[in-house]
Amino acid sequence: MHSLHHSPVHAPSTLTLCLPDEAATLDLGRQLAPLLAPGTVVWLEGDLGAGKTTLARALLRGLGHDGPVKSPTYTLVEVYVVSSIYWYHFDFYRFNEPTEFEDAGLGEYFRNNSVCLVEWPEKAANHVPSADLALVFRFAAQAPESGRILDLVAHSEAGRKCLSQLISRMPGAGT
Ligand SMILES: Nc1ncnc2c1ncn2[C@@H]1O[C@H](COP(=O)(O)OP(=O)(O)OP(=O)(O)O)[C@@H](O)[C@H]1O
Ligand SMILES: [Mg+2]
Repeated sequence: MHSLHHSPVHAPSTLTLCLPDEAATLDLGRQLAPLLAPGTVVWLEGDLGAGKTTLARALLRGLGHDGPVKSPTYTLVEVYVVSSIYWYHFDFYRFNEPTEFEDAGLGEYFRNNSVCLVEWPEKAANHVPSADLALVFRFAAQAPESGRILDLVAHSEAGRKCLSQLISRMPGAGT
């Protein structure tokens, strides 16, 4: 994992990382997982195949979840309980209308004692709760094996706290 640039350490609201391969994404998930406090909402954005589910899987692995982490594309939500915390992994790709968020009764999953990971939040725009942290994936080049560029964007104090903790743990921090 290599940091391209970030805003000042005291109030970081964005961080851009280069994830050259899947191993780098897994490593980031392992580092980020313990920083996501209960109540945190994480949006996972980017095109089909950009690496959203891979990062969700890496976060859960980072918490010690050994079982499968399936894409919630067909189930809408997958539920994990790790260290007594509920983690909900959503995928709204198949929504035809953002109002399906309410129709499916999903609001009740967003609590101050759960962590919510949301793929395709734009499909539930104005209905899904806003992100503390948005992770926006881009392909580094046209070929899908080319690696990814990831923008981590904090939208709340909790999100900014995650970013500053992540930055302080990165190789070279404080030197
Ligand atoms: N940093 C990376 N560099 C290169 N390939 C990666 C990286 N991260 C994940 N991949 C690969 O990208 C592919 C697609 O990943 P994934 O299923 O996570 O995408 P997604 O964003 O969840 O797609 P969808 O929108 O269809 O749910 C997987 O084959 C995975 O191995
Ligand atoms: Mg996915």
